[in-house]
Amino acid sequence: MMTAPLRATDPTTVNVALGSRAYEIVIGRGLLASLGTRIAALKPGASAAIVSDETVATHHLAGAQAALAAAGIPVASIVVPPGEGTKSWSRLEAVCDRLLDARIERNDVVIALGGGVIGDLAGFAAAILRRGLDVVQVPTSLLAQVDSSVGGKTGINSRHGKNLVGAFHQPILVVADTALLDTLAQRDFRAGYAELAKFGLLGDAGFFAWLESNWQDAFAGGPAREHAIAIACRGKAAIVARDERETGERALLNLGHTFGHAFEAAAGFSHRLLHGEAVSLGIVCAFEFSTRLGLLSTNEAGRVAHHLAAVGLPTHIRDVPALQTNADALMELIAQDKKVKRGKLTFILTRGIGQAFVAPDVDPVQVRAFLAEKLR
Ligand SMILES: NC(=O)c1ccc[n+]([C@@H]2O[C@H](COP(=O)([O-])OP(=O)(O)OC[C@H]3O[C@@H](n4cnc5c(N)ncnc54)[C@H](O)[C@@H]3O)[C@@H](O)[C@H]2O)c1
Ligand SMILES: [Zn+2]
Repeated sequence: MMTAPLRATDPTTVNVALGSRAYEIVIGRGLLASLGTRIAALKPGASAAIVSDETVATHHLAGAQAALAAAGIPVASIVVPPGEGTKSWSRLEAVCDRLLDARIERNDVVIALGGGVIGDLAGFAAAILRRGLDVVQVPTSLLAQVDSSVGGKTGINSRHGKNLVGAFHQPILVVADTALLDTLAQRDFRAGYAELAKFGLLGDAGFFAWLESNWQDAFAGGPAREHAIAIACRGKAAIVARDERETGERALLNLGHTFGHAFEAAAGFSHRLLHGEAVSLGIVCAFEFSTRLGLLSTNEAGRVAHHLAAVGLPTHIRDVPALQTNADALMELIAQDKKVKRGKLTFILTRGIGQAFVAPDVDPVQVRAFLAEKLR
């Protein structure tokens, strides 16, 4: 159950218990300054290469470089354009070449300084360069701090779809400095909030109820922010420790993502619909579809939609500007998603708030009927 909110000045450490690949997630305000000493303690004598995007670099690259310099760590910096388009083959190739130009060797370390896009791209580059370089994740978006920096999924998109090329590559350390989120655009913070609420919705009803009364403080940068991020990281760490390769329980983290990825693709992976916004829409669909299947009461789905709308997230398809789509197009996109087996669809459904489960045999006809109704 919930503990009292932590003091903002106390860093919280969450252990990801993966045997020889175990690592710590450190969460707290102002932690970037300790990045160098933390890396030096883990890897004495290592050089580092920071990978970041232009927006994040403007705000936080100098701070990261100074923290490494203060610990005597030689550092190269590689800055790429921001946005989902950066998770591409061409950008991967460029980053790999730049890391090799910088003479990053087997004993050195790649630092992913950015949101989920940079974490996925730099993490994947580290996974394949010299058959595996250590990576430290320094997540700078809320989404990355609560979700993408933990658990070792890395990769890029292909023209066939999202995240279709990638590898599992666990970081050796995650440093989540919550002060970095102060420069994040409100819209990006909100998008990350959808993934945060997801942790309550999939398995922790108490956390969701807590968010309903404390979300404003988390947005404002109060102690609720650290607390919420720590709870989400603990939840993700526990799931990853039990099911690192997603053979079972880890799939629960895809709550809202099968519907969500279809909306994201329908919007062309564009600024019209950010990943977290698509997840918000997708979560509402998962709850409403579960209601339609008689798994839970309408009240629960309404409560979820009400909260997500209250923080300003999209909860209805018509909330997405100029989204031209129909049920058949969405079904096509859902079928392209990787969770299709022998004509049946795998969805994360729910019996209530905090009670998500993996449903491997959902009938596409029912999904189509549901979407057709939603689009009316
Ligand atoms: N690997 C995983 O387990 C996992 C899990 C969930 C999502 N993801 C992936 O994460 C990606 C989405 O991540 P995201 O929402 O962080 O996107 P993102 O990395 O594009 O960041 C969102 C925007 O915020 C900016 N930004 C980031 N930190 C900032 C800061 N501190 N100050 C100012 N601007 C800042 C970025 O430049 C970008 O424009 C998607 O590609 C998704 O597939 C991966
Ligand atoms: Zn997601």
